[in-house]
Amino acid sequence: MTASQPPEHRPGSEPGRNNLDPHLDRYAARTAGMTASEIRALFAVASRPEVVSLAGGMPNLAALPLDSLSNQMAELIAEDGLTALQYGSAHGVPALREQICEIMAMEGITGHPDDIVVTVGSQMGLDMVTRLFCDPGDVVIAEGPSYVGALGSFAAYQAQVIHVAMDDDGLVPENLREALTQAEKHGKRVKFLYTIPNFHNPAGVTLAVERRAEILEICRQHDVLVVEDNPYGLLGFNGQTYPALRSMDPDNVVYLGSFSKTFASGLRVGWVLAPHAVREKLVLAAESATLCPPTLNQLVVSRYLETHDWKGQIKTFRENYRERRDAMLSALEQHLPEGCTWTRPDGGFYVWVTVPEGVDTKAMLPRAVTARVAYASGTGFYADGFGSRQMRLSYCYPTPERIREGVRRLAGVLESEMDLMRTFGSVTTRAVSGPEFPGPDTA
Ligand SMILES: Cc1ncc(COP(=O)(O)O)c(C=O)c1O
Repeated sequence: MTASQPPEHRPGSEPGRNNLDPHLDRYAARTAGMTASEIRALFAVASRPEVVSLAGGMPNLAALPLDSLSNQMAELIAEDGLTALQYGSAHGVPALREQICEIMAMEGITGHPDDIVVTVGSQMGLDMVTRLFCDPGDVVIAEGPSYVGALGSFAAYQAQVIHVAMDDDGLVPENLREALTQAEKHGKRVKFLYTIPNFHNPAGVTLAVERRAEILEICRQHDVLVVEDNPYGLLGFNGQTYPALRSMDPDNVVYLGSFSKTFASGLRVGWVLAPHAVREKLVLAAESATLCPPTLNQLVVSRYLETHDWKGQIKTFRENYRERRDAMLSALEQHLPEGCTWTRPDGGFYVWVTVPEGVDTKAMLPRAVTARVAYASGTGFYADGFGSRQMRLSYCYPTPERIREGVRRLAGVLESEMDLMRTFGSVTTRAVSGPEFPGPDTA
């Protein structure tokens, strides 16, 4: 290519959007799995005020005590600014790590502050754990469906994901055993089981307590590590908590926690509690990624935990989300056409909807947005193109009134889709997609 040629006119280049990128031939092979989530492409439209977005996973922060938080932040800078604005250790602020231990004790975990590494959200924890354990072609077992941001990390390290089906009680132990046996039979190296046991994103289900020991035992038998991702564990609508997998097998579980759903997602503070032997490598991985997590944000969280009624705040969040969950479930009951089914979460942010055969939720999305409602289509939550009959609806952010209106609109779109289907058969065919990277709007 000569300097005067615009990049889109490169000789021999394929027609298509990527030709606009003059760096196409330079990217590492692992970037091939990096694609933007479909809702991100629609985001400009979906975020218009007239569109009810049931797509995003944004926590509803309106209930936070903003006045006292802003006073607290001002005090923090005034009293401790030279520390708060300085680099810190890659390990994280010691006082915060001790407080994190108290929080984890609520789900039965006895962790030592030395074994905690503070991260920039649990998303960074996912990235680090995958970086530490996965070579290209290694297998990660994950629930089907699974968290889109985790699938993005697995794709970035060229790990292969094998999904294991869930039922209303979460991951099914027999399915896990079978998946591991098959993977071994085919000579695959399975590195870890990635699981979201509580109030699953996107499925909304919780792993039954009776299944937990069995799942840990199966992983032990097959010499597979467990990565437990638990950002929603304290958001059970009846105040219920479940024993963490980590509490039952500390030496074989890496635990990921976060303040994003129980305090403030924008602070980007999460953590990893690793088996002691893994801790040192994690600190090195964290150091190479960020040098250290933001000191100011960690101190904000630490002071908040020290000075605010944070348990009361979580209760307020829970009540808020329960009201929204109720609004969504009753609207689904009232409006959704026959043949649709959905999960009934008792905590967290999400309902997972299955639509009748022949309806393709990804193909339907632009039509839904035109009808002023958005959702996250199911394919983004699978690494292998499944999920075209599913969608995730989030009730965390819109008001109950908007949720009801959004579901009513969605039902209208589904009705017309099904009408078309009855007349012409399947509405559209769809290309199988790979794993997608979430934006903050879809996470
Ligand atoms: C299951 C799960 N894991 C991890 C994350 C990332 O959270 P964080 O904001 O702590 O990075 C999310 C965010 O939605 C999530 O749902």
